[in-house]
Amino acid sequence: MKKVIVLLMVTGFIYGQSFDYIGVKKCSMCHKKEAKGAQLKQWQGSAHANAFETLKNEESAKIAKEMGLKVPAYESAECLICHSTGFGNGGYEVKDAEFWAQKTEKGKPTKDVILMSNLQAVGCESCHGPGSKFKSTKTMKAIFTDAVEGKTVGLWEPNEQVCIACHNKKSPTYKEFKFAERIGEYTHPIPTEMRKELLEKYTTK
Ligand code: HEC
Ligand code: HEC
Ligand code: HEC
Ligand code: HEC
Repeated sequence: MKKVIVLLMVTGFIYGQSFDYIGVKKCSMCHKKEAKGAQLKQWQGSAHANAFETLKNEESAKIAKEMGLKVPAYESAECLICHSTGFGNGGYEVKDAEFWAQKTEKGKPTKDVILMSNLQAVGCESCHGPGSKFKSTKTMKAIFTDAVEGKTVGLWEPNEQVCIACHNKKSPTYKEFKFAERIGEYTHPIPTEMRKELLEKYTTK
């Protein structure tokens, strides 16, 4: 009987698991190589990488004023929900000066501070999902070779639904968004030959 309860608790834990955000830098460690499609560079060159900085510009200040927001755009939930990663969903949070000033014994920013700053802007996880449970090489390879289904470990399919969660009329500067026309700008594929090579490498022992 005891065993059954323990088992229930264990499976309950697995199925009730939460997926945590890890930030752009962590994903990028393994996704920057030119030969594999340079996902980091592709992202850095996109508007998404700049989405948080945008909230500090004049246009944003003007929008915030018109909307009667009480705090600057870059501290407003009304803006951060689409201009940062995972806001209101376990990701980016508005923090005070005391938080940002936290230092390690060696005088470096703490892990918490680094993570938070890596969730500013529309990062990898805004489209691919929170990475805590799929970020390991082992799991990533298993997903890549279809041995594990991505969604069971929190990896989303970056489809139209994902884009229109932000590209919709709630955006104060909304421009019509046609998924089929824009998606081409937002893929950063692993080149075909490389993909073949990797699949072979990961599936043969
Ligand atoms: C420790 C290394 C590592 C980290 C960290 C990592 N990945 Fe990966 N990822 C891989 C490897 C290895 C593959 C298999 C393809 C390859 O070799 O590039 C892969 C494949 C993928 C794929 C393709 C999956 C598929 O369906 O074929 C996506 C999407 C992806 N990673 C996104 C991310 C995101 C987003 C993060 C951060 C949350 C991340 N990765 C963090 C190593 C990593
Ligand atoms: C978390 C919210 C969010 C998600 C998810 C998201 N975007 Fe964006 N996107 C933005 C924001 C915010 C900007 C504007 C950034 C800036 O200019 O500072 C933007 C800008 C863009 C732009 C350039 C501006 C334009 O309209 O010409 C394109 C193209 C784009 N996104 C496509 C996509 C596609 C395709 C997807 C889905 C695969 C997607 N986005 C998912 C928030 C998001
Ligand atoms: C529902 C999601 C969403 C919300 C909420 C949102 N934005 Fe955006 N924002 C976007 C997207 C998507 C883009 C890029 C395409 C567009 O303008 O439709 C964008 C673009 C922008 C731009 C650049 C426009 C340009 O010239 O290309 C500014 C400035 C901006 N947003 C400011 C704000 C401010 C300030 C707030 C809060 C008051 C805010 N946004 C709230 C999604 C959002
Ligand atoms: C605006 C949404 C968006 C953002 C932000 C984004 N991606 Fe992607 N990513 C996509 C889409 C769309 C695809 C294509 C998916 C497909 O074809 O199945 C993709 C595919 C991938 C692949 C798989 C490539 C392949 O050929 O299988 C990897 C790896 C990847 N992204 C990593 C990243 C990393 C790392 C970051 C952050 C530095 C990132 N992505 C940011 C939308 C995004």
